Amino acid sequence: METATKVARATPFPLGRIQGRLTPLMTQPSTSVLKERSRLAELGGGQARIEKQHQSGKLTARERVDLLLDPGSFVELDKFVTHRCTDFGMQDQKFLGDGVVTGYGTIAGRQVCVFSQDFTVFGGSLSGAHAAKICKVMDLALKTGVPLIGLNDSGGARIQEGVESLGGYAEIFWRNVQASGVIPQISLILGPCAGGAVYSPAMTDFIAMVESTSYMFVTGPDVIKTVTHEEVTKEDLGGAETHASTSGVCQLVYPDERAMFEGARRLLGFLPSNNLDPAPRKKSTDANDRTCSRIREILPDVSTKPYDMRNIIEDVVDDGEFLEVHATYAANIVVGFARLGGQSVGIVGNQPAHLAGCLDIAASSKAARFVRFCDAFNIPLVTFVDVPGFLPGTAQEYGGIIRHGAKLLYAFAEATVPKLTVITRKAYGGAYDVMASKHIRADVNLAFPDAEIAVMGPEGAINILYRKEIQEAESKGTLESTRAGLVAHYKETFANPYKAAELGYLDEVIEPELTRARLIQGLSLLAGKREAGPKRKHGNIPL
Ligand code: HXC
Repeated sequence: METATKVARATPFPLGRIQGRLTPLMTQPSTSVLKERSRLAELGGGQARIEKQHQSGKLTARERVDLLLDPGSFVELDKFVTHRCTDFGMQDQKFLGDGVVTGYGTIAGRQVCVFSQDFTVFGGSLSGAHAAKICKVMDLALKTGVPLIGLNDSGGARIQEGVESLGGYAEIFWRNVQASGVIPQISLILGPCAGGAVYSPAMTDFIAMVESTSYMFVTGPDVIKTVTHEEVTKEDLGGAETHASTSGVCQLVYPDERAMFEGARRLLGFLPSNNLDPAPRKKSTDANDRTCSRIREILPDVSTKPYDMRNIIEDVVDDGEFLEVHATYAANIVVGFARLGGQSVGIVGNQPAHLAGCLDIAASSKAARFVRFCDAFNIPLVTFVDVPGFLPGTAQEYGGIIRHGAKLLYAFAEATVPKLTVITRKAYGGAYDVMASKHIRADVNLAFPDAEIAVMGPEGAINILYRKEIQEAESKGTLESTRAGLVAHYKETFANPYKAAELGYLDEVIEPELTRARLIQGLSLLAGKREAGPKRKHGNIPL
């Protein structure tokens, strides 16, 4: 009895208080009441605010859900939930649904759970009730093993609710962590997201943003001006370009909302619904034993010349379809999804067209996170290696390349999914070890005949090995011919794949044309791979 009274007091039925528009229940037939309430809920913050949303180039929360999901598949939950706040006159400002649309539906026939924040209601800000709705749908997604897609358009914690709102965020964050590695979590950023509204996405697997209308920042330009006296625009501070290229917070950028929903549907097509289910297979007419006819043309004659690793990847995978993620951040490494023989694979490739494909801080963190995602969701990893080493310099050392580079080494070493590696050209130094080498338990290690595997490149190596001889040659005026001879000798000894092949560090040296066939054969072999590490609570990846 006592509990019932408390609940009643805490959640007074908001009759007549929802914008003063609800009429008492008993005066209308029940179907009219339902219709009226549904209509009001669907109106969100009202027609004027909907128009404002449209004028600013944004769709409404419901329009977005309809575009994202298969037509007619959405089932809405908690449509009539309202907030319980009574401070700041909030008892007189209630909106059915309280600023977030939640529920479930399908994408390409597969179940997903969604929430979509409604900026027309208190700027999509998060109240206790709003948070509880999101938590309910998160619990549902986790319990049923289906992906969770969050459509974020929120000014953060609802200021009028104080700590209740902060608590609501923490409940969401906790669930993000519980769901991590169990179901894919995708965050679509569709408006100005501030404060708590950026931390939940930050803990999900993928963040996508829309050019010119979506923003993410912990504190906005006004607060920054007050505290640090910096003047910065919303766009420069937290626009899509900033987070895609500078901070690396977001992995995918789209020109508009419709393109984003199409993109999210495409991404989901590569992913399993949870960590126990396989990723969906996609039939293709691309033969498993098709020869890769373009690789030889793509690889330059001179080993110092750049080329685009994406061209190699596209020549190998089914129908040349490669979904690159994080494309404009740390362009010296390429990551993304593709299929081989119909099976989803995660691709990691050094990119010789940018910074010669060196590993640096940003590339290491980017690839490490991707590798861990694939490992968590049983997506095999295919790694294309052309790496001259770690990027030298004080900026890298002071920035902690030792710690950050270790992330990628750790991620590849801990991954137990099938790991297949192709050395297309260079594999030098520590970077050889890091890039899914045999020693850190890759399953299939291949190299092209012109691959170079050594501790370092010939120029650097001869400077150290033959310092005296080079000094003497310099004094005799024979520097050029001496260096050329030493480089040739070094290349003959080390800059080829055969030392590694002799030691069994490579399983096979293959003609480039065979790459696709061999990878698909390897994947078939590895379909039943089981690998269990030592029992422990969790490892301690260098963060
Ligand atoms: C309550 C909010 C709100 C909020 C916006 N609104 N944010 N109401 N709580 N956090 C309301 C506005 O009062 C306004 O109401 C309507 O939403 C639209 O907002 P505008 O400011 O008119 O829109 P716009 O100019 O597009 O600016 C959007 C914005 C800005 C950049 C998001 O509103 C803003 O800076 N909001 C505050 C952001 C913030 O600092 N949030 C708290 C973060 S702290 P009316 O009625 O006028 O239309 C936090 C703690 C969690 O989140 C930390 C966990 C780790």
